[in-house]
Amino acid sequence: MGEIIVGLDIGTTKVVALVCNVEDSQIEIIGMGKAPSHGLEKGVVVDIGETTASIKRAIEEAENMADVKIERVYAGIAGKHIQSINNSGTVSISRDTKIITLDDVQRVIDTAQAVQISPDSQLIHVIPRQYIVDGQEGITDPVGMTGTRLEVDVHIVTGSITAVHNIRRCVENLGIEVQQIVLQPLASSYAILNEAEKELGVALMDIGGGTTDIAIFRGGDIWFSKILPIAGEHITNDIAVGLRVSYEEAERIKIQEGLPRLTDEAAEEERIEITTISEEKKLIAKRKLAKIIEPRLEELFDLAMGEIENVGYRDLIPAGIVLTGGTSLLKGLPEFVSERYDISVRRGRTPHGIHGLRDIVESPVYSTVIGLVKYAVESKEYIHRFGDRPRSWGLASSTHSRGFSGLLGRLMRWFSRFFRG
Ligand SMILES: Nc1ncnc2c1ncn2[C@@H]1O[C@H](COP(=O)(O)OP(=O)(O)OP(=O)(O)O)[C@@H](O)[C@H]1O
Ligand SMILES: [Mg+2]
Repeated sequence: MGEIIVGLDIGTTKVVALVCNVEDSQIEIIGMGKAPSHGLEKGVVVDIGETTASIKRAIEEAENMADVKIERVYAGIAGKHIQSINNSGTVSISRDTKIITLDDVQRVIDTAQAVQISPDSQLIHVIPRQYIVDGQEGITDPVGMTGTRLEVDVHIVTGSITAVHNIRRCVENLGIEVQQIVLQPLASSYAILNEAEKELGVALMDIGGGTTDIAIFRGGDIWFSKILPIAGEHITNDIAVGLRVSYEEAERIKIQEGLPRLTDEAAEEERIEITTISEEKKLIAKRKLAKIIEPRLEELFDLAMGEIENVGYRDLIPAGIVLTGGTSLLKGLPEFVSERYDISVRRGRTPHGIHGLRDIVESPVYSTVIGLVKYAVESKEYIHRFGDRPRSWGLASSTHSRGFSGLLGRLMRWFSRFFRG
């Protein structure tokens, strides 16, 4: 038996707990629990009691299947309160030896993470992309090198203090520790993107029930992340309203038909049978369904592509867009996106190196939870290799939750409180 690592994806439509046995970096799924999610809206906990109950069901089911007691988890976070920025920091090495120490790395990260964030937000990740020693770029571990000037480029993810706190509360209510809170699209990327894509430039879109999570990678590292509050549930709602059918019937129609292609001459004539809210059976043109789904997809992807354009990445993602999350299964979606935006689009492929429960490994619905476990495994390997580099892999572990650190951090906090009253 190796080490037990548990991922907990608290999604808008479902909560999933995945128990894995990890030995020599081989991940074997030994238990899975899933429960319908109550108490979340657009990726954010709005009812602690209900969310706790959903998590409890998923955890208990996973415990029974794996025959282990879950003590700690890696939990995902999303919601439109998430903000991301890139920053850099510089320190000088003034000692005689000029040998860079762990302390210098700590100092330079402290400098880089000292950005102005709103007083109701906290840091979730500070991810060092590269270190630069006396102008030499692309260094992953500067400790032991000699130089007089150490720089770091970081990607910083922040989120609402309340949202982070609520996730932790729901889990801790069950006597379980949150080892770390991880940005959902970052987690998903560990499950479905390969190194070559991340190197070349790629946008990941995890389209779930309540949120569409975007993450852009280039040169192997994350450059941008954003959570949009539109996803599959909105499409189902539109169908329910537009066709006057129940939510369940709308969900059935959506999953069965997907986005009918209007250019397809057959679709002009083709009809589908639906059951209206007054229990009548009725035939409607597929064209009508397309007219309902399409504007919502346009809204969603115009927003998403707009975000990518705003940060100047439209032409910097030659590997295109990789789709995952339940809504990525929508029939006709990759074709729609690639035609409208003239970009290469594909659905995420099955993650490598994960054993057990094929159905789970292969479904895009589980890429976040699998990614949480992969993230945990890789960050543990990193720590093993480089030592416990300060806050490189995320900040919100239950024992080390804090915002800025050090004197600079205290000053920044003071300033931000001061200026915002
Ligand atoms: N075959 C399918 N075609 C279209 N949509 C689908 C299909 N299967 C699932 N979905 C949709 O996927 C959505 C759920 O996806 P997922 O499980 O990734 O969401 P979640 O993780 O609970 O939510 P979020 O990540 O937004 O908080 C639902 O809206 C569901 O209707
Ligand atoms: Mg999700």
